[in-house]
Parts: sequence; C-alpha cells; structure tokens
Amino acid sequence: MGTPLKPPEPQAAIVFGASGDLTRRKLLPAFWHLFVEGLLPQGFAIVGYARSKMTTQEFQERARDSIREFAKTDPVGEEWEEFKKLLFYLPGEFESELAMEELCALLVTLDESRGTNGGRFFYCATPPMDYPLIVARIGESRMNPEARIVIEKPFGRDLESARELNAALHRVFDESQIFRIDHYLGKETVQNILAFRFANGIVEPIWNRRYVDNVQITVAEEIGIEGRGAFYEQTGALRDMVSTHLFQVLTFLAMEPPVSFEPNRLRDEKVKVLQAMQECSPERVVRGQYEGYRSEPDVAPDSTTETFVALELLIDSWRWAGVPFFLRTGKLLNRKLSETSLSFRDVPFNVFKGTDATVPQRDHLTFRVQPNEGILLDFNVKRPGLSMALEPAQLDFDYQTSFQAPLVDAYEVLLLEAMKGDHMLFTREDEVERAWEVLTPVLLDPPEVRPYRPGSWGPDEADALIAPRRWHVCPPPGQKHVPESE
Ligand code: BG6
Repeated sequence: MGTPLKPPEPQAAIVFGASGDLTRRKLLPAFWHLFVEGLLPQGFAIVGYARSKMTTQEFQERARDSIREFAKTDPVGEEWEEFKKLLFYLPGEFESELAMEELCALLVTLDESRGTNGGRFFYCATPPMDYPLIVARIGESRMNPEARIVIEKPFGRDLESARELNAALHRVFDESQIFRIDHYLGKETVQNILAFRFANGIVEPIWNRRYVDNVQITVAEEIGIEGRGAFYEQTGALRDMVSTHLFQVLTFLAMEPPVSFEPNRLRDEKVKVLQAMQECSPERVVRGQYEGYRSEPDVAPDSTTETFVALELLIDSWRWAGVPFFLRTGKLLNRKLSETSLSFRDVPFNVFKGTDATVPQRDHLTFRVQPNEGILLDFNVKRPGLSMALEPAQLDFDYQTSFQAPLVDAYEVLLLEAMKGDHMLFTREDEVERAWEVLTPVLLDPPEVRPYRPGSWGPDEADALIAPRRWHVCPPPGQKHVPESE
C-alpha cells in the first residue's frame, strides 16, 4: 500500500483449498483482474492444491466458470489463453507425510518453465483447522525460507487458540513472512478513514472526547447464514465479525496518527488502541438470534449461537476516555449496510430558545463503508423563510458521483499487497491476541441470546443498550433523512 503500483517479484502462488468457495468467488477473479491490469509478476504461476481429484485442465475450466460468474471482465480471447497458462492443479492430502513432495517437484519445474524463480506465496483458503498441519508440512518440506504465507480469518476462536495458532505459524515462519487477511482492510472505504483523518487539517481538532459524544459501527447483513450452519455454529457473530472486521474499522477510527506511513508504525498505533481498550463487560453486550435460525441445516435445535451482537466498548486514552464505542452486527437484518459514525456533542445551550426554532439533531459524520460508499455530514441549517426555523441537512460525498468508477475488490488489493510483502493491510500477531483478550469476559460468560424478527434491526435489548442515545444509520438512497435514528 505504501509502495508505488508495480508488479511484485516473480513467484508461484500456491492456493491450498483450491476447490473451495473462497478460491472460486474471490481468489481466482482477483488474480484474473490483476493479470488484466498487468499487475501480476513477470514470472508467475498459480498452483491449486486440494483434496478433490481434478486435472489441471479441469481446474482451468472451473476457473473460467468462476471468473465468468464473479469477475468484472470476461475471460475471453488471447488474454484468457495467456492467463490459463498460469493455472496448474495438484490433488493432495495434507495428512499424508508425502503431501508436499509432488508439490515441491512441480514448483521446481515451474521455476524453470514459468520463471517463478524460487518465489513461494502460500495461500491457505482451507477451513482454519487445517492451517497448523499445512504450515507444519511446508516446514517439513523446507519450502518455508523466504516464502510468504497468507491465512484467512478466523485467527483462532479465543485467546488460547489464537496463541496456539500463532505458535504453530512461528515454528515455521517468521512474523515478517505471515499475512493474516481481514478483507475489511482491503476495502477502499475503510482505508479512506485514514485518508480522511490524516490528510485533512480540519478533522484532528474535533476528533476527541471534547467534541465526540459516541462512536457507532453497524455492519448489518440482509442475508442469513446461507448454508454455512456447521461453520456458524462454531463461530457466531462475535467471533465472525466483531473481533475481526468491526475491530479493524474501530482501530482506524480511534488510533493516533502514526509517525510514518510504514506498516509497523501504523500497526503499532492500532495495537495501542486495543491495549487501551477496557475488557468488554458481558453486561454491556446483547446477543441475538434470528427467529428460524434453529431450523437451519446443521444448526442444533437448541442452539445458543448468536447471529446478532451489540456491545459497548470503552477506550482509556486521553483522546477517548468516557466516549462509548457502540458496535453492532447481525444476519437477516433490515438491510445490507456497513457504516460508522461519530456523533458529536450537543451545542452547549440553545441560543434559539424563545423562538420557534428547536435544534433538530446532533451533528453526525458517517463513513458509508458499503453500499452507496461515501461520507455524509449531518448538520442543522436555517429553513428558508421569514422565521428562524431549523432543519437537518447533509453534505454528501459519494464515490460513484465523484469518481464514476467501480471500487476495486478488497481481495485484489490484498493479494497484490501480500505478494509484494507489504504488511500495512494485514493483522499482526499482537493485534489478534489483544483483540481476543478484550472479548474474553464475554466469551467466558456470554449473556443469554435474545430472539429477533428477520428484517428487523435486532432485539429490542440492543436499543436499550445504547439508550438514551439511538442507533444512527443513513437512510437508503433517495429516502429522506430521519433525525437520530430510523
Ligand atoms: C465474512 C464473514 O468475513 O464477512 C461473513 O465470515 C460475512 O459471515 C462477510 O457475511 C461480510 O463481508 P462483506 O464484505 O459483505 O461485508
């Protein structure tokens, strides 16, 4: 992210779990886009590795289908024929001690035939329980020196398992070789929080407890668990979304300016936010479960897994002491929306007292992460007319209107950065462990799960959690703004 846009050094990308959904939906389309943009290395190959029996030709055909379905540019003509030549497939079992032998041999041939030059970029797109074994096998086959490895969230399911995973990784790789992906960091709109804060002089003076009353982060999804019952039963909203995506947004909002735009300086500041965060009290957490969840396939009929969670977090720093950070996320909610807003303090007193004017709302600054990506400032204005009456108004920055170009997919950004070896957008070991530590009291003593109606904004208890304040979200495009809440 910090370096100019140019292709990475020659390398072979080895995708473990190549027959899975992540490879199909995200990785292959992202590699294809990078190829079309001329951003793949000169010497390059993608080796798919998975248990499924498949030939290279079948893998190429599958790749074409998934690119057709999920990519912005169609895989056709000379361009596709060239990209196809980069794709290889090897069936294999990680359990077998010989698992990596064939892979090593293939990679050596590719170093010659495709010019990958000994560069190794491992991507674990498998279920997380496979990571330790894959990593150990890479170590045994001595492919680890100089290699890079990407692993997908979740990074453990609590502090202890995160520590175990980190230890397993460090037996084979140095931290500088490890890239923990959280796709929220690849989103333009999340990175733009940094640009907005640190490239604009007007922002810093008001970015603190003196002016900010509370900060909110909402990541609402309209979809349910989409057949992922087995995974979700083990995970739930807190582990799936809060310790990862929502914490990434929170640390970008709350961090101090880094001393430089270097990966470790930026990551130091994120970790400091988590260090200053009070451990989350179960009393300030609401867990919800949508009605009907227990009848989903692979879900226990008496499941207490949460599909919604809302919580309050406090940060003991000079900037944020006493400012509550309210977070909420859930499945089958009213609409798809990821937003974060700073809600500013009320005016000290109403100078319009005694007139017809009442101050209609607090000022809010909202980052619309998705959809309708942009930034919205809500404030109050005089309604045109002969009397002094006030009305809410907005300043609206909208990516589509301003740039008229589709936003780059998060995976494209993250693949490129990891292949270049830039850690800016990846989670560091200490960050992962501290995030789990903050949530430990809730994981050990989770509050009872409350039912909510699909299509709602979660259980009523989530409104009680934030009261007397209210949850703030932007209205859908084209609809009039309703002050303070929906
Ligand atoms: C994933 C979670 O990490 O993020 C999913 O595992 C969730 O449960 C998804 O649906 C949301 O991502 P986005 O980019 O659609 O907000």
